[in-house]
This record gives sequence, C-alpha cells and structure tokens, in this order.
Amino acid sequence: MADKSTSSEKLAAAAEATAVAAPLRKIYPIVKYGDPVLEKPASTIKNFDAELETLSEDMFASMYAAQGVGLAAPQIGKSIRLAVVDVTGGKNPEAKIVLINPEVTHGEGEVREEEGCLSIPGFRGYVMRPQFVTVRAQNLKGETFEIRGENLLARAFCHEIDHLNGILFLQHLSMLKRDLIKRKIKKMRKEGEW
Ligand code: NI
Repeated sequence: MADKSTSSEKLAAAAEATAVAAPLRKIYPIVKYGDPVLEKPASTIKNFDAELETLSEDMFASMYAAQGVGLAAPQIGKSIRLAVVDVTGGKNPEAKIVLINPEVTHGEGEVREEEGCLSIPGFRGYVMRPQFVTVRAQNLKGETFEIRGENLLARAFCHEIDHLNGILFLQHLSMLKRDLIKRKIKKMRKEGEW
C-alpha cells in the first residue's frame, strides 16, 4: 500500500494547511439603516496596530460575503474612520484599498449614476458624484498616501467617506425619492422585515 493515511486524515491535513495559508476571517453582520451609528461622524484613528490590520481584513471578508465594493467601519457598528474598497469584488488582490482617516482633497467632473448601499438593501437611487477624485488617507502603518479614482472607484471613495461623516446616499437624493424610501423602510420595520 503506497499511502496508509485515511481520507479523513488527508482532509484534516488539508484543512490545517488552508488555515495556515488563510486565517479564518470574522464575517460581521452589516448594520442597517435606522441604527444611529450610521448617522454620526466617526472618530479619527490614532493607533495603527495589529488589531486594526485584523479588522480591515475582516471587513474585506465581510464586504465580499455581502457582495459589496466598499464597506465603512460604522456599517459594522464601529464608529471609527476606516473603510475598505475593492471595485473588483475580490477578483484582484491588488485592487484592495484600505482607507484610514480619508479625505477627498480634489474632485472633478460630474457623473450621475445609480448607487446602492449594503446598509440600505433593496433600494437604489441616482446620485451625482465627481468623475475623478483625489483622496488623501493613511495606510495600516499610519503613512499618508494619495490615491486617485475615476468613475466607479471615485464613487466608492465618496460613498465610503460619506459614511465616515455619518452621511448616507439617501441624503443625495431628491426629497421626494428619499421620503418614499424612508416610508417603505418604516413600513418594513413595522412588519419585522427590516
Ligand atoms: Ni454604503
């Protein structure tokens, strides 16, 4: 017999190897519209430690699980200025962007496009955003960097930075459209569907 190990032993060994290569990530539930954490400005991050790195990786995993292209810390109930963005939805590891204490320093052009939010599932609306933006942020080491985004990436940067300021895309809609969505959500909440 060439191989004495049983298939269950092989499976266990394979599982162990996987665990070493990619630690199990925590998948956070996404906070929904109505929770006050979504509508208050988040605090500046001052400690760039291993905990922050773990949190950002868990946020990517949570975002991919929810099929989003951006996620801000208030959306997992943490009122801190951290957001993750990946407009490829996990297809390209190099597209992962961590933004800590980010600010839009420049915007140019205007694009009106439909937008949604993981915290407001099932609702979308047209929002005007700059076509190009420059964002200044810090990375996980606390180093300041600048990044430019165009179209969807620019939109994702603006949407996530809005979250860190307690602003939801609903605030960019017409009052009529916004009130319609708010009424529907209120009704869903009453019926226990939100
Ligand atoms: Ni959002």
